[in-house]
Amino acid sequence: MADIGLIGLGTMGSALALNMAEKGNDVAVWNRTRARTDEFLAEAGDLASKLSAPEGLDDFVNSIRSPRAIVVMVKAGAPAQAVMDSLKPYLDAGDILIDAGNADFNDTRSTEAALKAEGFDFMGIGVSGGEEGARHGPSIMAGGSVAAWERLAPILKSIAAKFEDQPCAAHIGSDGAGHFVKTVHNGIEYADMQMIAEVYGLMRHMNGMSPAGIGAQFEAWNSGALASYLVEITGQVLQADDPETGKPMVDVILDSAGQKGTGRWTVIEALKLGQSANVIEAAVGARGWSAARDLRAMGAEMLGSDVAVAPVDLEDLAAALLSARILAYAQGFTLIGAASDEFNWSVDRAEVAEIWRAGCIIRSALLDTIAGATRAGLPGDALYLADGLREPLLAGLPALRRIVGAAVAAGFPVPALSGAVAYLDTMRQPRGTADLIQAQRDFFGAHGFGRVDAEGQHHGPWGS
Ligand code: 6PG
Repeated sequence: MADIGLIGLGTMGSALALNMAEKGNDVAVWNRTRARTDEFLAEAGDLASKLSAPEGLDDFVNSIRSPRAIVVMVKAGAPAQAVMDSLKPYLDAGDILIDAGNADFNDTRSTEAALKAEGFDFMGIGVSGGEEGARHGPSIMAGGSVAAWERLAPILKSIAAKFEDQPCAAHIGSDGAGHFVKTVHNGIEYADMQMIAEVYGLMRHMNGMSPAGIGAQFEAWNSGALASYLVEITGQVLQADDPETGKPMVDVILDSAGQKGTGRWTVIEALKLGQSANVIEAAVGARGWSAARDLRAMGAEMLGSDVAVAPVDLEDLAAALLSARILAYAQGFTLIGAASDEFNWSVDRAEVAEIWRAGCIIRSALLDTIAGATRAGLPGDALYLADGLREPLLAGLPALRRIVGAAVAAGFPVPALSGAVAYLDTMRQPRGTADLIQAQRDFFGAHGFGRVDAEGQHHGPWGS
């Protein structure tokens, strides 16, 4: 009998199925079109001996050992729902359906509740690492019941990336916890990518460096405190030339960024939880602005596009990036903590950091420090206050200020880096300016305010 079933042999589904087979699991696969199934089996080579592909959906379901576990790797929404509905007649109580795509955790929660009412179990699993990760070792964030996790854990741990022999797969919490944490992972991914892009932009504009020269700088940084997958690939991307024109590859790519929604979900959920992940928001917003190419061209024409040139110190840039990266991660971790409280997930954020150390897109040297610091306990629940993180943050802070100051003075946009400074400066200000906000609210809406010297709600002397 098969250990697990998988429906949907697209890029990610195929990669996961081959990974599972390679790690010794017997996998039953099924695809809407038989031709794709046959093609997949032919591509599988030696691994085909661990794969089975029954023709009918009933035979497919019956070939999986009980309680059955079936990964549905089809487009989220109506297509996934249709597949799950068509499976139900063949399932038994306790069987587990699994969504391993990038799903909105709100949908995961409602699907789980609906399936539970029908006697079935459901897992929402965040899988990071792109196609390469899915095939050879992703980071896996599982959400769902303990029983479902216990059924799936041996398989998921077998296919996950390993950090010093530890599998990067964990049970994050019930229902949507896994998909929520994957969403925040992507939010941090957006922030890190944006900050790296801002640093690239400064080196290019202020220092007049070539893409290849900047790429070499990123490559050098990847051997130090900034070591990370995103810094590594940035080094490679910037040193690549377009085979057609011979120009630097980045120079022939349109400066208009796409997005599939996970970064935006992070920001939306943050706001719903009363949080502000402003560095992540800056990154999501910058992608939106980047898409407005015509308007930017008009802005350049009508407002002027001149930007002063004032070379920045490269060591400052590295230190600034590290400080800002700590703050972006901190916002993600605070958000996960808030959601965990709200939805009773009891997320172990040290474990989240541990399973992000390999396989996923945001894997970085910093995550090992974050894992240790989080395990030791976060002062005020704030990552940036923890021993091991506070010191590099403070060490890089003057550089971050110099870089942001130079960029603002020159007219070069650094929304994520400057957002990081604003966040930090706000969070170290014992008395802020919200007293005035409260006074204004009371003035025009009689909303009331608390006083520094008395309990209860009060009103100001504004007249009636
Ligand atoms: C991952 C990636 C993956 C995907 C993003 C890209 O962790 O493997 O995050 O999930 O590449 O969805 O998202 P955008 O298309 O929104 O940039």
